[in-house]
Amino acid sequence: MKLSSRLSAVKPSATLAITAKANALKAAGVDVCSFGAGEPDFPTPAHICEAGKSAIDEGYTRYTASAGLPVLRKALAAFINLRYHLNYTADEVAITVGGKHALYNLFMALLDEGDEVIIPSPYWVSYPEQVRLAGGVPVIVPGAVENGFKITAAQLEAAISPRTKYFVLNSPSNPTGAAYNEEELGALADVVIKHDLFVISDEIYSELVYDGFPFRSFPTLRPNLKERTAIASGFSKTYSMTGWRLGWLAAPVELVKAADTIQSQSTSNVPGMTQMAALAALQGSHGFLDAWLQTFDRRRHTIVDGLNALEGVRCALPQGAFYVFPDFRGVLHRKWNGEPLGTDIRLTQYLLEEAHVAIVPGEPFGAPGFARFSYATSDQVIEEGLRRIRVALDKLDG
Ligand SMILES: Cc1ncc(COP(=O)(O)O)c(C=O)c1O
Repeated sequence: MKLSSRLSAVKPSATLAITAKANALKAAGVDVCSFGAGEPDFPTPAHICEAGKSAIDEGYTRYTASAGLPVLRKALAAFINLRYHLNYTADEVAITVGGKHALYNLFMALLDEGDEVIIPSPYWVSYPEQVRLAGGVPVIVPGAVENGFKITAAQLEAAISPRTKYFVLNSPSNPTGAAYNEEELGALADVVIKHDLFVISDEIYSELVYDGFPFRSFPTLRPNLKERTAIASGFSKTYSMTGWRLGWLAAPVELVKAADTIQSQSTSNVPGMTQMAALAALQGSHGFLDAWLQTFDRRRHTIVDGLNALEGVRCALPQGAFYVFPDFRGVLHRKWNGEPLGTDIRLTQYLLEEAHVAIVPGEPFGAPGFARFSYATSDQVIEEGLRRIRVALDKLDG
């Protein structure tokens, strides 16, 4: 058997790999402090679960249109229009099997062999791999630590070649939690318009922002940006629905139809009962979010303060999502088994093996020397994890 050459350039998900390793240790009875998972630790709100259960009894157990139930597409368009000051119609949105699937459908529908796609780093691990799977060429533009990991409009412009067609934006970001403000987004939008680029804007963390940070959806920045933007998003993070596999995209109708062609020949529709749960999520109270955000905010401060108290470690306070992305370059010279740690990959191995703390190395996010912590875990795990890391780092020579 020979596997497709398409796979030779594609890596499996590093974030899922570390979660699997931590889970295997847990299954073997080890008490692991896990900062790996990219999912809220709250249960899905009860009214959403109830809607999913009733939908089964009501017979939503059959195929639906692959882009989603008309009632849900209509409600989604109404919701995002109201919440983010957009103006989409039901046929300009589609329901996908998670936000990841929205992105996959978009890349498959848009890219031709050799098309260049600009991706700021640190990036969510799936962007470059999905671009490669679709035959495109990722062009990585590093966001400077001093600029809160964000790229500037000048950097975007400098990366454009005659083959550049697309720009992937993710604000607030996984893995850094950084969010672009209105002025920064506007400057990027001007470059996009000037060079006739098309933007894939991953806005899945739009609801998870702190200190009153004003989230702006990318198409609202300039007139006519809507026709050169596809928004990818989903229900996983806002409603704690990671396992339901619910995402969406909003784009010009021609692209929505093309993405639906890919979907209708691959996964088909999101299960009907899941779609009805999504309808309840959109139309029900969002009151639960205040409490979630307060909890995330408290943990955000605990983890940032705790990491900054470690000698050689520096960590910025991010504006959104539930990740922090500390700089560990100041500890990599320290020795483990007589050898300098050297890389973030070895550091994370050390912390998992010696301290039973699971974090994700920065290298797969395009940021060697850094690591990602998800603080979507309990206060106790955060405090105990920080304690273990301090003890483990103190044990190292040098
Ligand atoms: C930036 C970003 N986009 C998209 C997704 C996809 O989420 P899902 O497929 O669960 O909706 C994630 C999940 O971690 C993410 O962090």
